[in-house]
Amino acid sequence: MTTGPGLDAVRQERFAGRMVQVLNDACIGYLCSLGHRTGLFDAMAPLPPSTSTRIAKAADLDERYVREWLGGLTVAGVVEYRPEDGTYRLPPEHAASLTRAAGPENMASLLQDLALLGTVEDEVLDAFRRGGGVSYSSYPRFQELQAEETGRVYDVALVDAIVPLADGLTERLRAGIDALDIGTGQGHAVNLLAQAFPASTFRGVDISEKGIAAARDEAERLGLDNVRFDVADTAELTGSYDLITAFDVIHDLARPARTLEAVAAALRDDGVFLMGDISASSNLEENIGHPLGPALYTFSVFYCMTVSLGEGGAGLGTVWGRQRALQMLGDAGFGDISVEQVEGDILNVYYVARK
Ligand SMILES: C[S@@+](CC[C@H](N)C(=O)[O-])C[C@H]1O[C@@H](n2cnc3c(N)ncnc32)[C@H](O)[C@@H]1O
Repeated sequence: MTTGPGLDAVRQERFAGRMVQVLNDACIGYLCSLGHRTGLFDAMAPLPPSTSTRIAKAADLDERYVREWLGGLTVAGVVEYRPEDGTYRLPPEHAASLTRAAGPENMASLLQDLALLGTVEDEVLDAFRRGGGVSYSSYPRFQELQAEETGRVYDVALVDAIVPLADGLTERLRAGIDALDIGTGQGHAVNLLAQAFPASTFRGVDISEKGIAAARDEAERLGLDNVRFDVADTAELTGSYDLITAFDVIHDLARPARTLEAVAAALRDDGVFLMGDISASSNLEENIGHPLGPALYTFSVFYCMTVSLGEGGAGLGTVWGRQRALQMLGDAGFGDISVEQVEGDILNVYYVARK
């Protein structure tokens, strides 16, 4: 072991061990992402202890690859292996965090982000050296993954837990109001609201043509006639609304301050701005120990801050935090703001803002 004057050898060894664990855990993340994308976790969950041949057949995959994947997840402690008969089992307690049936608890779905972020590492490295950022077009799977990740949360929580955070909003939506969702992505949140509140009208805007095309497709599949989607910039809003929503959007924007002003201007006097954003502090020292702290800063470096800087924007970053958000909402003209949380959601807080 390398030692030197003043070096705490125990601390050094402990940290070296931790870094080995980091390597292993990161690799487990990739295997879990594959387990999600291949459908292997979903296929294994209902099976009794089974051979790799049976598991591969159940998932309609190549056995050699499945066996290697099972090996990795066995030594990782994710899958159980019985050498006597060469069978593998996904314990139900683990399936509860790894299968599509787990809904918002499915961490394997979120782990797909590792590979997505890895594809832009060279461009991010370049931005560290030269400044600037990375363009949205460098993340071809982003819209699809984002919609998958947030969609499962909206399915269970949007109508019953998130909308009621704003006093009286459910009743107003039932009675019929005009609503706008900015940075709507693939528009699933808007389509769910349009379905749940047929007397209200909804509009979703995003700069992503791919996102808006998917949003329109879903609205058509659902036969919704109270929703429309447009490719538009959040900083240049048109129309006036009783409700404006922004879910996981403001910190990504090139012009967040201009957008918040545009939201305030487009909101009718008794309107509500419901802004879901990352639950974190604006003070770094208060984020130490945050259960998702390292992931949040990593998403920021590889995506959120970097796409904003890529457009010459503010680069707020994923972890802009509550204090900064409140200050910017205040600067934009919101005088009445409450910060709410949905039980079990460690990722987001919801700002219910009125003028
Ligand atoms: C993190 S995603 C959130 C998507 C969606 N709200 C959700 O909850 O899944 C942020 C979205 O903001 C969009 N966006 C970024 N800059 C924008 C801009 N200037 N105008 C409109 N949309 C923008 C992106 O295309 C992306 O779909």
